Amino acid sequence: MTRIRQLIDKLEKNTSLSQEEYTQLIREIQKPDMEYLMEKAEKIRQKYYGRDIYVRGLIEFTNICKNNCYYCGIRSSNRNCERYRLTKKEILECCEKGWTLGYRTFVLQGGEDPAFTPEEMADIVKSIKSFHPECAVTLSFGEYPFEVYKLWKEAGADRYLLRHETANKKHYETLHPVEMSFDNRMRCLYDLKALGYQVGCGFMVGSPNQTPEDLAQDMCFIKGFKPDMVGVGPFIPHKDTPFKDMKAGTLEQTLIMLALIRLSLPEVLLPATTALGTIDPLGRELGIRAGANVCMPNLSPESVRNKYTLYDNKLCTGDEAAEYLKSLSNRMNKIGYNIISARGDRYGFKRL
Ligand code: 5AD
Repeated sequence: MTRIRQLIDKLEKNTSLSQEEYTQLIREIQKPDMEYLMEKAEKIRQKYYGRDIYVRGLIEFTNICKNNCYYCGIRSSNRNCERYRLTKKEILECCEKGWTLGYRTFVLQGGEDPAFTPEEMADIVKSIKSFHPECAVTLSFGEYPFEVYKLWKEAGADRYLLRHETANKKHYETLHPVEMSFDNRMRCLYDLKALGYQVGCGFMVGSPNQTPEDLAQDMCFIKGFKPDMVGVGPFIPHKDTPFKDMKAGTLEQTLIMLALIRLSLPEVLLPATTALGTIDPLGRELGIRAGANVCMPNLSPESVRNKYTLYDNKLCTGDEAAEYLKSLSNRMNKIGYNIISARGDRYGFKRL
């Protein structure tokens, strides 16, 4: 029994490791032990979620953003990005179409676009919930004050995605300009939790300057924060950003992190992300194998789909498109999984 297998067994039993142990595992794991890790993650995923895969219709409703994150293609200073924002009517049409296709969760994701006022967002959420009371609404719209998150919760929003990006403040400061603050990001996450949202945090694997210690710190943060969802995908450089010449995160490293998250938080909702599908044609399937249980196909109007360019070559066609649910479903069947039409709340989550 190798030291790495001992650590994997310990994680399986206790669902946590010390930061040093996570670091060693992340730094030293090699091929045969990776298989071992994936098998354990798949087993625990099946214990809670069986072979079901939840789908979310992703509506990227604005690519206008006041922030200037060094890694992101829709950063405010990128002049080459063709900007758009959807109207309330267009957003509702996306939901209507999604409903017909079988989606029961809509994710409204956007850059931090001040043109959408808190009141307007609340109004959009209310309308979606009135047309589709059986559906969950997830917001992913960045950092706002407690009172605004409260307004949206009261309007009917169920979940909120806000990746922490890295749990190491020093590292955070190398990925973001000075106007952005690690402490405010954390404040937002704890506010969302306190308000009763199902909350998602997350990070990019292989982001510039990231070390195995940073990833271990992410694991310890996640373990303590107990999010309902974790979004993890490889960093992929975008040509119009300061990180254009940086290396992308790898498939292997991303799969390792997915599996570690599944073993550390057995009940978490864990998507096989678009970024993972972008770096490898089988990324989605491999992500599911490593413990992921959610897919988020793109439900935005076709005319804007290729404009939400967070990174180069971002997928938005084929099985990445919400219309091709049948085809995605066939792919998942091939590896023994089934896409189901349901809200897909986190296992054990109690709605008030
Ligand atoms: N590569 C991979 N993921 C990225 N994101 C932003 N830019 C990139 C990139 N270049 C991720 C961030 C953000 C989420 C919406 O997309 O983690 O939180």
